[in-house]
Amino acid sequence: MVPRISVRRAETRDLSRIADFNMRMAEETERKKLNAEDALKGVEAVLNDPGKGFYLVAEKGNSREIVGQLLVTFEWSDWRNKNVWWMQSVFVEPEARNQGVFTQLYRKLGDLADSEGRVCGFRLYVKKSNVAAKRVYESIGFRMTLYEIYEK
Ligand SMILES: CC(C)(COP(=O)(O)OP(=O)(O)OC[C@H]1O[C@@H](n2cnc3c(N)ncnc32)[C@H](O)[C@@H]1OP(=O)(O)O)[C@@H](O)C(=O)NCCC(=O)NCCS
Repeated sequence: MVPRISVRRAETRDLSRIADFNMRMAEETERKKLNAEDALKGVEAVLNDPGKGFYLVAEKGNSREIVGQLLVTFEWSDWRNKNVWWMQSVFVEPEARNQGVFTQLYRKLGDLADSEGRVCGFRLYVKKSNVAAKRVYESIGFRMTLYEIYEK
């Protein structure tokens, strides 16, 4: 049976769960072992500073167990006088996948963006080899951009 899911903004009490999800996600998608203290402090920095971004978490049924998350960070578009919302740290517990958890997180994000009023769109990075995540994003209407990403 598909569990009932509710989505809310993350709070300080969610810190360790989110950091744990981030470590598991890095391991699963990039075979990277994050430093646990950096991972914890990195999440704490967002929770303490709304200017950096915000997390949404998805809770399951009555247990209120967190089974999914995403982070939004902001990129100011001076061309449009609006923000682009970047989706990062998208993760759903393996046992809760393919039951619409991410879809509900994304729906909530859409509602928040509409009510915020100054959001011109969403963007995200995905590893080239992460075929499953690319399918998920395409299923909700995301398309590849004309841009490539450089870094130094
Ligand atoms: C990617 C991820 C967040 C998707 O979460 P989810 O809760 O399972 O996604 P949903 O159940 O909401 O599915 C959304 C859509 O994608 C489809 N989908 C889900 N998993 C899929 C898969 N592995 N392959 C193809 N399509 C898939 C669903 O059928 C659904 O399509 P529909 O609306 O047409 O039915 C989850 O698989 C995950 O955490 N993966 C590991 C971490 C990761 O890769 N994060 C993204 C890094 S950029």
